[in-house]
Amino acid sequence: MLTATDLTCRFGPRTAVDRVSFALDRPMFLGVIGRSGAGKSTLLRMLNRLTDATSGEVQFKGTDILRLTGRAKRDWQGRCAMIFQQFNLVPRLDVASNVLHGTLSRRSTLATMFNLWPETDIARALDILDRLGIADQAPKRAEALSGGQQQRVAIARALMQDPAIILADEPIASLDPMNAQLVMDTLRRIHDEDGRTVIANLHTLDTARRYCDRVIGMRDGRVVFDGTPDQLTTGAAREIYGADASFSEKATSTTLDGLPPDTAYASTMLET
Ligand SMILES: Nc1ncnc2c1ncn2[C@@H]1O[C@H](COP(=O)(O)OP(=O)(O)OP(=O)(O)O)[C@@H](O)[C@H]1O
Ligand SMILES: [Mg+2]
Repeated sequence: MLTATDLTCRFGPRTAVDRVSFALDRPMFLGVIGRSGAGKSTLLRMLNRLTDATSGEVQFKGTDILRLTGRAKRDWQGRCAMIFQQFNLVPRLDVASNVLHGTLSRRSTLATMFNLWPETDIARALDILDRLGIADQAPKRAEALSGGQQQRVAIARALMQDPAIILADEPIASLDPMNAQLVMDTLRRIHDEDGRTVIANLHTLDTARRYCDRVIGMRDGRVVFDGTPDQLTTGAAREIYGADASFSEKATSTTLDGLPPDTAYASTMLET
């Protein structure tokens, strides 16, 4: 279904993503984990054609994605909608209009300038907001919402494009734990109910373990782990994050906690 082969991205002398290959044979919830700078965002951005790959190949249902240009490229970007850590909403615009912007690629500039939307689109936007439990927020300005609500608006905007794939770049990194759970539950539900593939960059192991069907671990641009959450042992985590990473103690909530590197600490806390 979706295949990446030897996907590589160089920025000058730096190789951000180094010959990454994976194949998804069915819609799934895929997590991508790794340290800061491991290449997670660059990988997602290449899949969606926001960043040009230096070499390699991406295939989706027989289409050579990296060769798409013009209209076909824009269509693909609608088919694999992206959501971001900072939500990327228009803060002063109302929630419903933000969601309707998900149809932008199909609309004329003039209609967009005057904020004119077909009634069918408006009804669909409200349906999607209702499904995500935030229909009552539709008339409010986006900036008046909590972070968790804003991220659900961003997901609603992505759903307006009826995407086959949702690419989520650290979707919960700016959220408190309760909102993080709400947003992850929403993404998981969209996968379960609609059969859309979700590929999410995540920065905590416990989130990856809890929500993903499969996890790819990246280090220095390369895939160093590809398996199920069950296979993501603390030994595998050490391979991904490095031996000097510190983890919190509880196996159920193993989190890269940003403490200063402490090899002695890490080696006593990590067990395979
Ligand atoms: N536009 C760019 N120009 C130059 N270098 C870049 C660019 N984008 C990313 N890089 C570099 O590529 C490497 C991978 O970056 P990337 O943002 O993909 O990492 P990441 O895993 O998403 O990190 P983080 O967890 O901090 O978001 C880094 O060394 C980064 O500095
Ligand atoms: Mg990133």
